[in-house]
Amino acid sequence: MCGIVGYIGNKDSSSVLVDGLRKLEYRGYDSAGVAIFENGTIKTVKSKGRLDDMEQKMEQVGRPHGHCGIGHTRWATHGEPSDINSHPHGTEKLSIVHNGIIENYLQLKEFLTANGYTFVSQTDTETVAKLLDYYYNGDPLETIQAALKEIKGSYALGILFKDFPDRLYAVRKDSPLIVGLGQGENFIASDIPAILKYTRNYYLLEENEIACLQKDKVEIVSQDGKPVQKQVLTATWDIEAAEKGGYDHFMLKEIHEQPKAVRDTVSPRVEDGLPDLKVESLTDEVLGSFEKIHIVACGTAMHAGMVGKYVLEKLARIPVDVDIASEFRYRNPILGKNDLVVIISQSGETADTLAALRLAKKHGIHTLAIVNVVGSSIAREADSVIYTWAGPEIAVASTKAYSVQMAVMYLLAFKLALVKGEITENEARFYTQKLMEIPTQLENVLCHADDCKQFAEQIKSSDDLFYIGRGLDYSLSLEGSLKLKEISYIHSEAYAAGELKHGTISLITEDVPVIALATQGALYEKMIGNIKEVKARGAKVLLVCQEGAELADQLADYLLEIPAVEDILAPMLAVVPLQMIAYYASLLRGCDVDKPRNLAKSVTVE
Ligand code: M6R
Repeated sequence: MCGIVGYIGNKDSSSVLVDGLRKLEYRGYDSAGVAIFENGTIKTVKSKGRLDDMEQKMEQVGRPHGHCGIGHTRWATHGEPSDINSHPHGTEKLSIVHNGIIENYLQLKEFLTANGYTFVSQTDTETVAKLLDYYYNGDPLETIQAALKEIKGSYALGILFKDFPDRLYAVRKDSPLIVGLGQGENFIASDIPAILKYTRNYYLLEENEIACLQKDKVEIVSQDGKPVQKQVLTATWDIEAAEKGGYDHFMLKEIHEQPKAVRDTVSPRVEDGLPDLKVESLTDEVLGSFEKIHIVACGTAMHAGMVGKYVLEKLARIPVDVDIASEFRYRNPILGKNDLVVIISQSGETADTLAALRLAKKHGIHTLAIVNVVGSSIAREADSVIYTWAGPEIAVASTKAYSVQMAVMYLLAFKLALVKGEITENEARFYTQKLMEIPTQLENVLCHADDCKQFAEQIKSSDDLFYIGRGLDYSLSLEGSLKLKEISYIHSEAYAAGELKHGTISLITEDVPVIALATQGALYEKMIGNIKEVKARGAKVLLVCQEGAELADQLADYLLEIPAVEDILAPMLAVVPLQMIAYYASLLRGCDVDKPRNLAKSVTVE
């Protein structure tokens, strides 16, 4: 969480920094700030609240003008959102912005206090600023090297030293940071969209590499000071993809991008009508040797993993565990040498998910990452990678990333099932063909926005809501419920429909709407029973089912039909109305759709 940017070049840095921060605001929006060299001094402006608040403050106190500066947008961890806790933090000699968590900040604080330093904020970052100050000997590189030896935790740092107004320093460990390479100007940023307006070329900083940026050169050294030759990478995302493109919100745009995202992810992985993962390290022999799969992820990515479990077990007949990464990493999981650990992450930087990957690697287990951000930490560290091609996902609520994660789960299941001889080549062709038809069907589902809006009107004043479903629909209901909660703040619960009567049905009243997912033919009759149970308690029910489902129009108060599809693929279509209901409910309740309270897009802290 938190986004950092830095600029050195001939442009006025304040506008470049604010511009970059706007692209990174999805990483946190509790406060924002910049520090800019102006006539030999470092001028800092920072403020609690959104970037707009900081810009307003800039207008009040005077916009700093200069050609080198750093900026920050914060997701608060240590210390409440406030002006004083906002970044940059600094001393007479330097100024820093930080993304990450300094785990030993209390010990460092004690040490620095004993050495005469005082602290004004509650942040862990202030200890880094003061530690750098403590070690400062006139040589920025030596100073950073000395401080790094003392710091434990995760960090991406942008650093200005007052004595060196023509240099910008950066270093990272366990938090992302890129160095953007322009013509006569260079940048640092937590993520690619922040630099896209100016350049597509960048370096990825490895753990504890220290970068020194001047306007026309960038030098990178390892922690022990040895020069490092870096490969220039080129971003393929275009600026358009990182902008709203005429939609009111990124979330709505990203919901509409799902047909393309799924097409881009699936098509390159189909050869002669059969699934082909195109991962060199995953030969048929290797795939066939796996005896158990552990899927590990957080939030929406974990929900995609739940769908994956269902299809992998059903088709490939291989046992699958799905774990929340923050649980997996601390529960000493039982991992067999022939197991496969599948790590799912949109950002590729989620701290718990990254830690889970490292744990699996420590056990010598093959790790496969399914990741959207190319070159992210998880992508780089996993043994095998399958990229999802969703393009940048900016809205905090994940939508298109979920769809492409599911799409890869299907491809993996078809391939494994084929390799293990659990399905025939003809069956594999059939399923693959049906998956390839999903993008066109998604376009059709997207036309039903008005129905979703109407239903959102019905629930906009509800305090509580239930999602119920069985099998794949239960997995999907978890995602529907998360989406509604995170952006509309309506409390909701996802329940396995058959489990409701074991206690939770006591919460169903006429004020508690129920969204019943019933897309699975084999479980449809059971779902009819469950719908009747909640209706008998007064609940108003929205039924989501496939076109042509029996008695659908008589069963529920509201009906949303998805096109008829193979049952196993139904979540790919049924998720869209759930995303739209959440979107419109959030909008109707006046919430900030793209930036819900207390959240951040990329959770790079534990
Ligand atoms: O970047 P990741 O896929 O690793 O992120 C995992 C979760 O933080 C993320 O899916 C989160 O649950 C979404 N905001 C939900 O919409």
